[in-house]
Amino acid sequence: MVRIRLENLNKRFGDVVAVDNLNLDIRDGEFVALLGPSGCGKTTTLLMIAGIYKPTSGYIYFDDRVMNDVPPKDRNIGMVFQSYALYPHMKVFDNIAFPLKLKKVPRQEIEKRVREVAKILGIDKLLDRKPSQLSGGQQQRVALARAIVKQPDVFLMDEPLSNLDAKLRVMMRAEIKRIQRELGITTIYVTHDQLEAMTMADRIAVLNEGRLQQYAPPEDLYNRPANLFVAGFIGNIPINLIEGYLKRVDGTVLIDAGPLKIGLRDGYAEAIPSHLDMSSVVIGVRPEHIRLGRGSYTGRVVIVEPMGREKIVHLDVDGLNIRALTSSRSRVSEGREIPFDFDLRRIHIFDKATGKAIL
Ligand SMILES: Nc1ncnc2c1ncn2[C@@H]1O[C@H](COP(=O)(O)OP(=O)(O)OP(=O)(O)O)[C@@H](O)[C@H]1O
Ligand SMILES: [Mg+2]
Repeated sequence: MVRIRLENLNKRFGDVVAVDNLNLDIRDGEFVALLGPSGCGKTTTLLMIAGIYKPTSGYIYFDDRVMNDVPPKDRNIGMVFQSYALYPHMKVFDNIAFPLKLKKVPRQEIEKRVREVAKILGIDKLLDRKPSQLSGGQQQRVALARAIVKQPDVFLMDEPLSNLDAKLRVMMRAEIKRIQRELGITTIYVTHDQLEAMTMADRIAVLNEGRLQQYAPPEDLYNRPANLFVAGFIGNIPINLIEGYLKRVDGTVLIDAGPLKIGLRDGYAEAIPSHLDMSSVVIGVRPEHIRLGRGSYTGRVVIVEPMGREKIVHLDVDGLNIRALTSSRSRVSEGREIPFDFDLRRIHIFDKATGKAIL
């Protein structure tokens, strides 16, 4: 097990700044997800940790040792990629055994370790097959087994589930998490899927354009997004972001968003610095924090999307589009006007100029 520290890490490809001054501390045995949209620098970061890319500047530490000049093979890392890259002509057994053969581990020891790992992953009956005779999920497990069998100090995974169908992905998500907990190996998991990161990771590092946006446990990202980017990126059904400006009337704070005038709860007035009065802000309200059926606002139901247990209701409020989440039992019909309210304890306010959270 090992603790990983990235210090002022940068990577440039010509003019492209792929990773921009990244600082990150990953604890012993922790499961950290690198999350962000395509091109934000996730893979580049991972490949620097693996030693495949050299940082342009900055440092990578494993415990207290600077790793910048340590070659990949001496970093004791297990890697799993999106394309499993199994050797097609080798049986499953030999695919898993491969890294041990490279290390010249004795035959008997190889035999023992491959069977052990195969058992953990539930592929011990498939050892004599070729990769082409396996399902996607099984191939994925073989790739995992090959990474685990080395008994690495660190797991690096880059979108390992993206080739699987939705149901299998949910199963493998839990499986990888279980194995990671069982083995206690420090793990960095790259994904652009916020749900995957939220469900698997102890902490999530959200990246955008090479820069770290927030590094926090899943529930903190959800409940206390540091900026507009994180607020918009996290959440299964996108948060409502409503532009307005901040007014102070008789000691209370009101956000004027055109058709919506949202008075904030007591206590907010003191919390908001006065230099923001009259400035532009963005209110963030998650769809589950909008109550339908009663309240001081009204909207027209434009469309209803059933999702089984819940449904998404799209409202039009004089030209503003609002998404609300409600129980599938609640009666809402398209085309009708409906009253609604915000749960004012759960709204977020961002400074429009900087994107940073004010409250
Ligand atoms: N070898 C390279 N040469 C030049 N530019 C590169 C190279 N590798 C990555 N980049 C650029 O660096 C940026 C970050 O790329 P990276 O592969 O790290 O993104 P990512 O977050 O993994 O994206 P994705 O989710 O699409 O895999 C991108 O703008 C990409 O075009
Ligand atoms: Mg990538």
